[in-house]
Amino acid sequence: MHPIILAIESSCDETSASVIRNGKVLNNIIASQAVHQKYGGVVPELASRAHQQNIVMVVKESMEQSGVLKTDLDAIGFTRGPGLIGSLLVGVSFAKGMALGLGIPLIEVNHMQAHVLSHFIEEPTPGFPFLCLTVSGGHTQIVLVRDHLDMEVIGQTQDDAVGEAFDKAARIMEMPYPGGPLIDKYAQTGNPHAYRFPDASMPGLDFSFSGIKTAFLYFVRDEKKKNPGFVEDNLPDICASLQHALVNMLLTRLEKASDQTGIREIAIAGGVSANSGLRKTLKQLAEKRRWNVFIPAFEYCTDNAAMIAMAAHYKFLKKEFSPLDVTPLARMPV
Ligand code: KG4
Ligand code: ZN
Repeated sequence: MHPIILAIESSCDETSASVIRNGKVLNNIIASQAVHQKYGGVVPELASRAHQQNIVMVVKESMEQSGVLKTDLDAIGFTRGPGLIGSLLVGVSFAKGMALGLGIPLIEVNHMQAHVLSHFIEEPTPGFPFLCLTVSGGHTQIVLVRDHLDMEVIGQTQDDAVGEAFDKAARIMEMPYPGGPLIDKYAQTGNPHAYRFPDASMPGLDFSFSGIKTAFLYFVRDEKKKNPGFVEDNLPDICASLQHALVNMLLTRLEKASDQTGIREIAIAGGVSANSGLRKTLKQLAEKRRWNVFIPAFEYCTDNAAMIAMAAHYKFLKKEFSPLDVTPLARMPV
């Protein structure tokens, strides 16, 4: 069996489609939504509407580029959750319509599992078991991956996600959304030791980012009282120091997870894995600790349908299909 699957991703603010043939991703079409920039965050109602506007075009382009005919498709994969319910609903409804029209099975995919499986799109792929630090705008998790579809979350954030911490800090500095990539950009030329921000001591392998966010808010407010141009005058140093603190918080937990499990196959996934500071420090740590490190290509770090297609492929092989009355889930455990 060499399944051909069309997959759709619409959990947040990216509308994406991908075709996969026998486990090989043929394309990855992504329409990003610029509409949220001026609001400082994703506005759910606008996201849902933009998905509706984009989905037909995105799917059409993915099918055309792949050279696959609709009648060649063996299944339709889609993101069931977690995510924004109105956004998910657009992808779920579209997938159902296509599956029903073509008389082929539906395959629901967990978005967080799919981020982990982005490591199987291109070589080299990690060996099992491995640890995956999944870091995005909505999640911060350390996942113990035993097999393609056998995963366990062994550490997670108790409040904000790390991407949220990046974005909120950027907003405090009056940068547009999403601010994570901008902080990364300014951090390149700054001194990471110019300012210190606190780490939160959490039990086990868990994270907390609400403390550093509040500390950063007061820090900027107090410094601006002394010098109203503080942020503009010191942008690279502020960004580099904040990024250093956030990356450190992530990697100390990852080191602890590796020590506890004895696993040295280490992967990162999710939007924040595009961060250059995280990538660089992880590579240094890999040398020091003799880790085998896996970092996905940029295109597969942020939300994309190729990773959904990959997950759908493995589920197809196990004949894990969904009923036609499947509903989206805002929360969905890995
Ligand atoms: O995985 P993703 O595309 O969407 C979610 O599922 O949340 O992740 C988006 C998050 C945003 O918070 C964005 O600011 C962050 O990833 N991000 C970055 C970078 N690129 C994206 N954060 C820091 N540095 C980056 N280079
Ligand atoms: Zn994501």
